[in-house]
Amino acid sequence: MITVVGIGADGWDGLTPAAQLAISTAPLLLGAPRQLALVPVPGTPWTALSELDALLADDCVVLASGDPMHYGIGATLARAREVRVIPSVSSISLACARLGWAQQDVRVVSLVGRARSLGPLRDAERLLVLAADASTPELVADLLAAQGFSASSVRVLSDLGGPGEREGEPFGDLNVIAVECAGAALPSVAGLPDDAFENDGQITKREVRAVVLALLQPFPGQLLWDVGAGTGSVGIEWARAGGTVAAVERDTGKAERVLRNASSLGVLVDVLVGEAPDALSSLAQPDAVFVGGGATVPGLLDACWDALGPDGRLVVNAVTAESEAVVLAWQAKHGGSLTRLSVQRTAPVGSFTGWKPMTTVTIWSVTR
Ligand SMILES: C[S@@+](CC[C@H](N)C(=O)[O-])C[C@H]1O[C@@H](n2cnc3c(N)ncnc32)[C@H](O)[C@@H]1O
Repeated sequence: MITVVGIGADGWDGLTPAAQLAISTAPLLLGAPRQLALVPVPGTPWTALSELDALLADDCVVLASGDPMHYGIGATLARAREVRVIPSVSSISLACARLGWAQQDVRVVSLVGRARSLGPLRDAERLLVLAADASTPELVADLLAAQGFSASSVRVLSDLGGPGEREGEPFGDLNVIAVECAGAALPSVAGLPDDAFENDGQITKREVRAVVLALLQPFPGQLLWDVGAGTGSVGIEWARAGGTVAAVERDTGKAERVLRNASSLGVLVDVLVGEAPDALSSLAQPDAVFVGGGATVPGLLDACWDALGPDGRLVVNAVTAESEAVVLAWQAKHGGSLTRLSVQRTAPVGSFTGWKPMTTVTIWSVTR
C-alpha cells in the first residue's frame, strides 16, 4: 500500500497530525523537490513520472500538492495501484474561498500538459483554470479572444495558501486563473449555424449536420473519425458534445482551417493531413466514423467498417450518383438505415421570397 499525502503551500504546519505522522514515519518518502523542501524529514526527489514509477516501494509515502485526487498524482497512481490518500485543501477550494464563489457553480479547466482549450464558453460562466506556469494567463487571454470572449474578467491568483499569496502581477508559476466569461455564446446542441464555421460553401449544412450528429450519437470521451473533414464542422460539433476527434483531410489549407474553426469554437481536434484510406491506419480505434467525403475512394468504406468495434456507428453522406450507388450497395450488404434529406431555405426572388432547394443528401447510418 502506498500513501499519498497532499501538502499545501502552507507546508508542514498546515498538515493534519495524521498526515504529519505518515510523513515522519515513512520508510521511504518521495516528492517533488518543491514539496520535500516543505517537510522537516529527508526524502527522495523525483521529477518525471517514469522516475517515480521506478522508485515506488511498499509502504512508501508520496507527497502531492493540495488534493492529490484533483488533477493530481494520487489519481494517476490510483489507476494502477491501491493507494491511501490524505488530502489537503485543493487550490480550487482556496480560490473559491478567496473569490467568494460556490465551487459547484465553477467549471474547472486544466491547462497543465498539452491541453490548449477552455471548452465552449457560455456568457456569465465562471471558470477556474489550473495553470501550467506563469505564461498560462496570457494563453487564457488568447483562448478567450479566439471565442470572442475578450470582454471577460480575468484574475490571476498566485501561490494560494502560501506566505507569498497574491492577486495580479508578478504571476507565479503556481497560479489559478479566475474567469467570469462575457461574450456571445453558441448553443451546445448540434446544428450550429453554417457561418459559425469559416467555410467556402462546401460544408455539411446545418440541417443535415444536426441529423448526422444525432445518428453518430456523441458521448463524452468517445472518439470520432471525421473522414474528409472539410471545414471540420461535424467533428467540431462532436467535440463540443465532449468527444474527441481525429479529422482526416487531404487538403493542407482546409486542414489548417479545421484547426482555426476548432479554436474559435473552443475545442481541440487532432487533424491528420492525408488521403484516406491510407491515412486511417495510424489512428486509434473509433467509436464512430463520419464519412463526409471520399465514399467512392476504393477501400475507404472497408477501412472505416473494419476499424469499428461492437456498437460502433458509421454515417456516410452521399451527394453524387456514384457515391449514392456505393452506399446503396453497402446498405444492401450490411443493413442500417438510408435517409434522404432535401432541405429548402428561403431566398429573395425580386421583391418576393422564394424557396431555394439545397443539394439533396443521402445518409447511410449503420451500427456494427
Ligand atoms: C463535402 S466536404 C466535407 C464537408 C464537411 N463535412 C464539412 O462540414 O465541412 C468533403 C471533403 O473531403 C475531402 N476528401 C475527399 N476525399 C478524401 C480522401 N480520400 N481523404 C481525405 N480527404 C478527402 C475533400 O478535400 C473535402 O474537403
